[in-house]
Amino acid sequence: MPTEQSAIESVLNETRRFPPPAPGEVGAARWLIDSADAYRAMYERSLADPDGFFEEVTADLHWFRPWERAVEFKAPDAKWFLGGKTNLCYNCLDRHVENDRGNEVALVWEGEPIQPNGQPEIVTYTYRELLREVCKFANVLKKLGVRKGDVVTIYMGMVPELAIACLACARIGAVHSVIFGGFSSQAIVDRVVDADSRVIVTCDGAWRRGHVVPLKENVDAAVNELQASGGAGAGSLLRDQQIDYVVYLKRTRNQIVWHADRDYAWRDLMVMADEWCPCEELDSEDDAFILYTSGSTGKPKGIRHTVGGYMVHTYLTSKYVFNLIPGLATPKRPDPLPDGQLFWCTADVGWITGHSYIIYGILAARVPSLMYEGAPNFPAEDRFWAMVERHKVTQFYTAPTAIRAFMKWGQEHVEKHDLSSLQVLGTVGEPINPEAWMWYREFIGRGVCPIVDTWWQTETGGHMLTTLPGVHDTKPGSCGVPFFGVDAAICDEQGNEISGGGGLLAIRKPWPSILRGVWGDRDRFVSTYWTKFNVDGALDNGDGVSPYYFPGDGAHRDPDGYFWILGRVDDVINVSGHRLGTMEVESALVSHPSVVEAAVVGMPHEIKGTGIAAFCTLEPNEMPKDAAGMDRLRAALTAHVAEQIGAIAKPDQIRFTDALPKTRSGKIMRRLLRDVAAGVQQIKQDTTTLEDFTVLARLHESKES
Ligand code: WTA
Repeated sequence: MPTEQSAIESVLNETRRFPPPAPGEVGAARWLIDSADAYRAMYERSLADPDGFFEEVTADLHWFRPWERAVEFKAPDAKWFLGGKTNLCYNCLDRHVENDRGNEVALVWEGEPIQPNGQPEIVTYTYRELLREVCKFANVLKKLGVRKGDVVTIYMGMVPELAIACLACARIGAVHSVIFGGFSSQAIVDRVVDADSRVIVTCDGAWRRGHVVPLKENVDAAVNELQASGGAGAGSLLRDQQIDYVVYLKRTRNQIVWHADRDYAWRDLMVMADEWCPCEELDSEDDAFILYTSGSTGKPKGIRHTVGGYMVHTYLTSKYVFNLIPGLATPKRPDPLPDGQLFWCTADVGWITGHSYIIYGILAARVPSLMYEGAPNFPAEDRFWAMVERHKVTQFYTAPTAIRAFMKWGQEHVEKHDLSSLQVLGTVGEPINPEAWMWYREFIGRGVCPIVDTWWQTETGGHMLTTLPGVHDTKPGSCGVPFFGVDAAICDEQGNEISGGGGLLAIRKPWPSILRGVWGDRDRFVSTYWTKFNVDGALDNGDGVSPYYFPGDGAHRDPDGYFWILGRVDDVINVSGHRLGTMEVESALVSHPSVVEAAVVGMPHEIKGTGIAAFCTLEPNEMPKDAAGMDRLRAALTAHVAEQIGAIAKPDQIRFTDALPKTRSGKIMRRLLRDVAAGVQQIKQDTTTLEDFTVLARLHESKES
């Protein structure tokens, strides 16, 4: 029963809207779906008749054994494509080779360094070439004893071998766990232990803005820590954890320390490997990969995705949201690639966006994927636009934080380049402010390209809310409407639908790439995602499990049915479009010897969207005497957080205080801290439960000089 009351206030009042252009206006051959009626018919069928709908739309994909039933759901457990046998790698590579497309370009890679000839290194793989490399590396993994279901940790820079390693795992049914190359050695330790992984694939180093990130050194530090605590005895988390093999790719000529007992050079193993490796026929519900993401408690969660559903959803969203049309030349992009389109997602494969829209979805859709190794401002701020021009990119997918950086750097960097190849623009990772959206449309999209603002999560595997480029009007700041198979609503805490105003985003039915669990932690899976909405009468077994999925975001829906994301409602903050749990940063701070207690909240930040503000209480006598001492301690704490988690978690603001504002029951009042961090002078919030009123005043005084 819809209620009128609004659970979260929404303040954005944006009324601009832009109709979809005719395909010719942006140089597209056609829109795969080109009318609201066609979308609506497909959408309604996807919910009402999933068996029929998915049978039709997945007919292009290869199943070793066809599935019998689309979906089975008993909250919180969903299964998709039951009885089906398939393989992600087969659908990304072998299928195209078998269909006589083996010589088409699958992957275009551009390195960061500019070579002496003034050009970057560019490497192109056809489906056939990529398949051969993947088979070889799959054989390498098998030689190292990796079997179906084993977790392989991948900690690499953005090199083609990263995609090859992932696809090789997929081929043999091993479960990859990719760790973002910007994370520290401690992050490797935590994830390796949690996943019980015995093989790590890494690089000697990764290029980033002209410098080398010492990946192998970080892996060594992690392995040393694991070994040092190996004998820690009963109760130790690290007990029995052992890394058997570290495979490293030489990319940067960075000096490394070689350990004879475990280290193997990628190329040494590859020259000996066989060029053919059979493809494992996996069950739809076999694990495909895990990817760790932050939650509102300290420890990152290993999000589990399975083969069939993930494949179908990433394939479908790639195709329809970006309008990918394989094997077709367009007037704007006749050559040098045989096909018309080239898709570029600027994310790192260390995040879900890179998994789904650099590798799996795009390769499955048979449009070449561009992968770039380095930073957007190396050697200059026009690097991305030089690349769009050089490769004649047709679809470009990036994050609001990057768009805001481009705005700040100035449009002159953009105007130097011919971006007329672009057909569709995409954004993901955080709500986009209308100003950045308008800039993106105007300066990158020539004022004509449709922008797809895709709302989704690590847990959802692929796009959930978005517009389709040939169907929907776009509205700056709104992520649009549900994709096929997605039943989204705005609810109050009880799960009642709210018809006007803001509330909690809820997904009322499972979709194919819904997370299947949290690795090794059933309770956390249930409590994080499946206990929020206490829908009356829907709980038949009295175990408190909600039938709706809770993503942790607030949102509202306008009268046209468009969703507007209001941001996280839990203790997760979205920094530069990357999720960080405030608890994680707090734990890192408290692990520094000077810090007793820490509270971390988000604060508005011009480029990052949300920055990190930290409030720390210190050990007695540790409070620095003067401003210089405070600066030194701030620098030490910042370095400590970077070491514990990675540079992305560095606080933007650190304040010292002798007490944190708490309720009588001892809970830190984060909403007050958020106001303090945002510089709100007069705290207007209700402070009646605040234990010690003087704390607030002193917090204001502690502001950084
Ligand atoms: C946020 C990234 C507004 C949201 C794919 C979500 C967004 C979290 C959007 C997931 C968007 C992602 N508009 N907010 N288009 N896309 N978010 O797991 O808060 O790194 O819950 O997945 O990012 O972040 P994650």
